[in-house]
Amino acid sequence: MKSEQQLRAEIIERTKEIYELRKQKEVFIPGTSKVNYAGRVFDEKEMQAMVDSVLDFWLTLGEKGNAFIKDFSAYMGMRYGLMLNSGSSANLVAISALCSPNIAQPMKPGDEVITTALTFPTTLNPILQNGLVPVFVDVEEGTYNIDASKLEQALSDKTRAIMFAHTLGNPAEMDVIMDFAKTHGLYVIEDTCDALGSYYDGKLCGTFGDMSTYSFYAAHHMTMGECGAVLTNNMGLYRQALSIRDWGRACYCQTGEKNPNGACRHRFDHIFEGLPDGYDHKYVYSNIGYNLKPLDIQCAMGIEQLKKLPGFGEARRKNFSILYHALNKHENYFILPKALPKSNPSWFAMPLTLRSDSAFSRKDIVMYLENEHIETRMLFTGNILKHPAYRNIQYRISGSLEQTEKVLHHTFFIGVYPGMTQEKLAYMVERIDHFIEGI
Ligand SMILES: Cc1ncc(COP(=O)(O)O)c(C=O)c1O
Repeated sequence: MKSEQQLRAEIIERTKEIYELRKQKEVFIPGTSKVNYAGRVFDEKEMQAMVDSVLDFWLTLGEKGNAFIKDFSAYMGMRYGLMLNSGSSANLVAISALCSPNIAQPMKPGDEVITTALTFPTTLNPILQNGLVPVFVDVEEGTYNIDASKLEQALSDKTRAIMFAHTLGNPAEMDVIMDFAKTHGLYVIEDTCDALGSYYDGKLCGTFGDMSTYSFYAAHHMTMGECGAVLTNNMGLYRQALSIRDWGRACYCQTGEKNPNGACRHRFDHIFEGLPDGYDHKYVYSNIGYNLKPLDIQCAMGIEQLKKLPGFGEARRKNFSILYHALNKHENYFILPKALPKSNPSWFAMPLTLRSDSAFSRKDIVMYLENEHIETRMLFTGNILKHPAYRNIQYRISGSLEQTEKVLHHTFFIGVYPGMTQEKLAYMVERIDHFIEGI
């Protein structure tokens, strides 16, 4: 009879064969095959790591999760990292940690958070879910980022934080934002879900503010299918984020700790007012929490993906550059994306905005491209205030949202992800040229 080890080795080897068989079937036929705007890029290593983890049959977050977050935090140069089941959960946990009564200066309901109405819904939702009031400022044309010159005007005596995404991987103006936050004692939360591996002034996006968030959904810079993370250099914030992720419990010992007294060794000797002496710390709740943990199986994939991340970044930059130079000739029709002089973006996608006097509408070009099997997307919400769910929220607008409105009506994006081959890029350019020639 074969040993468990031999069987495992065989299964893992066979997994590679399945990967190779599937890979052989991948062919691109222009005009017939779909050109996705994003997608998972992996090889046999990810499949094997996940199968190996399934065979471990550890059913929750465990060693693989710990290994991934250690590697990921080190890669980002951040002290503390927390795995989440999505980028949306990461945003919820980050904002909730900054509202925890256990930190020195928590945000309270009614406090204001400066943000943008051109956003992803779950960048804004945690602000609302915590009873905070969003104050919307406009974005900049071409960068699609929070307009840092508008921050001063948005300030009130209730302002406590600035939260924004580095839109489509394009870094926001971090030196101005951080100076402003420092001057006024504001928290900064960087939604880095679309900007993993982008740099501003030689520093990685996500390493400037108090907390940063990441998504590992399949469309992003690296993937585990689903999953997310929060990073911070502040141990107090990390502890509250961990508690909020894990049901709100006070204990920060991890699931599966070997020591029966927990890593802290004080599981049974805490005293809390109103609770019996020594009440098991694992069952003491110091935050109103959730359960937002991912699975170890996903993290096993993450370990392999992280090794590929620098290569993915290079491919995104190269693909963006090819498209940018090829579409430059259509500048009369499109506003091409802009990066700030200090930025080195790892682009999530290539946004294009139709000029106001354009001879065609966004609907015309998007429908044409989709018919030609080229995937397009809107720039997330455009102006989120125009969406049904947000009609009755409490908010304040500072200045006009002119650029945000322009994005709502005239912007779309196409892909630059690492799965985009030269053939696919050439096909996209050829089809766009053809469309423009026909108008
Ligand atoms: C900027 C931004 N923030 C947050 C999220 C949410 O991430 P997830 O889909 O992992 O919940 C996304 C999603 O794609 C996003 O683009």
